[in-house]
Amino acid sequence: MNKKIFIKTFGCQMNEYDSKRIYDVVRKIGFEKTDQCKDADCYLLNTCHIRDKASEKVYHEIGRVKKIFRSKKKPLVIVAGCVAQAENQEMLRREPYIDLILGPQAYYKINDKILNFTEKQKVDETDFDAVSKFEYLSRIKNKIGKATSFLTIQEGCDKFCHFCVVPYTRGPEYSRPFDQIITEAKSLADQGSKEIILLGQNVNAYSDKHKRLSNIIYEIEKIKNVERVRFTTSHPKDMTDDLIDVYKDSKKLMPLIHLPVQSGSNKILNLMNRKHTIEEFLRTYERIKKINPFVEFSSDFIIAYPGEEEKDFMETLNLIKEVRFINSYSFIFSPRPGTVAGSLQTIDKKISVKRLEKVQEALFNNQIEKNKSLENKIINVLSENQTEDKTKIFGRSEYMTPVIFDGNKKDVGKILKIKIYKSNRNTLFGKAINNIDQKVA
Ligand code: SAM
Ligand code: SF4
Ligand code: F3S
Repeated sequence: MNKKIFIKTFGCQMNEYDSKRIYDVVRKIGFEKTDQCKDADCYLLNTCHIRDKASEKVYHEIGRVKKIFRSKKKPLVIVAGCVAQAENQEMLRREPYIDLILGPQAYYKINDKILNFTEKQKVDETDFDAVSKFEYLSRIKNKIGKATSFLTIQEGCDKFCHFCVVPYTRGPEYSRPFDQIITEAKSLADQGSKEIILLGQNVNAYSDKHKRLSNIIYEIEKIKNVERVRFTTSHPKDMTDDLIDVYKDSKKLMPLIHLPVQSGSNKILNLMNRKHTIEEFLRTYERIKKINPFVEFSSDFIIAYPGEEEKDFMETLNLIKEVRFINSYSFIFSPRPGTVAGSLQTIDKKISVKRLEKVQEALFNNQIEKNKSLENKIINVLSENQTEDKTKIFGRSEYMTPVIFDGNKKDVGKILKIKIYKSNRNTLFGKAINNIDQKVA
């Protein structure tokens, strides 16, 4: 009988991609996935370190697993991802229930570590070796077989924003070889993926010989079965002309760009070490809008960064209203140990929460307005799966907004024309339209 692995994932899409790839790797030594933690022979937690209490969350999770296995044989417990990278030996010391620590660049060695594991020898594998990792992974099929698939093309970061742990947990910037990426994209398309989401901590900093992100998008567009391409996360400083032009020329690049700005104040951007100004950000915004007015922007915001005064905060609010960001994320600044901003004086909690509420209200208003504007219109939706009660289909609009509509299993994996009859802040509700001659919004 095959052994079972249970994988729980926190954090960003790259962690989701990694968890998926970890599963592709351990299948080779006979593991199969289980959705039931209690059935696991191997329990793997893929962790995120981006904000507060990340490691506490890990210890809490491990505590839960301990309880589940109190009266039976303990599973092999592996902590992977960014907390594993940041805390490695400390975790093994503090929580003896953990057997293996695997950093984000070292998980490709998992089979060897599992097969050679002995109770007496706990393992900490946290080298930065992105080249070997992707070389190894490229020999193992990315078995996704879903309508939409992630594909990591770049990893790590050299930008060192003062608030961020990523350069320490993911290591230096590394771009996968161009051919390796295209081969993986073709294989995903062969397995039924209609949409490919290119991932990187700084995806638009991608550079392999003379190939840039724009070249990857054009090449993937040529793959017949791929109908949608997206990329995330971009840094405003790396929005080069060739990439901006893709919004004019591409037939398959989706009209939503996630471009984190963090703050609307130049003073704060400078304190954050973001390496660009608001004026530069707005120039990129205007150029893209001019080339293609249908493109919308989503973003990330850090609220109450040390030094943020009311005036700076108002600049953020104004920027949100000016650009009309949709589908965005906002969080109160969280001091991270080891980063430059980690030891700075934080802003009063009450003020921070008030500012966050105001930002979220402004972002929600943009979203409600955008969703309302689609009511009674027909839009293209990629159907991803059936809802839990199996009566409806869940899909996404070109702007990544969730869409729920009547339909059945045979619709999954298709791009359908859906007439929207209702919306709320997060979701559009609609009906499939058979008359394909009707105009799409
Ligand atoms: N590379 C991307 C960029 O430069 O915009 C961001 C990647 S980071 C994984 C995702 C988001 O987490 C950031 O855009 C930022 O808004 C948020 N974030 C990172 N560190 C944070 C911190 N210390 N406190 C609050 N939010 C943070
Ligand atoms: Fe973090 Fe800044 Fe790098 Fe983005 S660019 S991953 S926010 S250090
Ligand atoms: Fe978290 Fe690491 Fe991603 S810190 S956001 S899992 S890169």
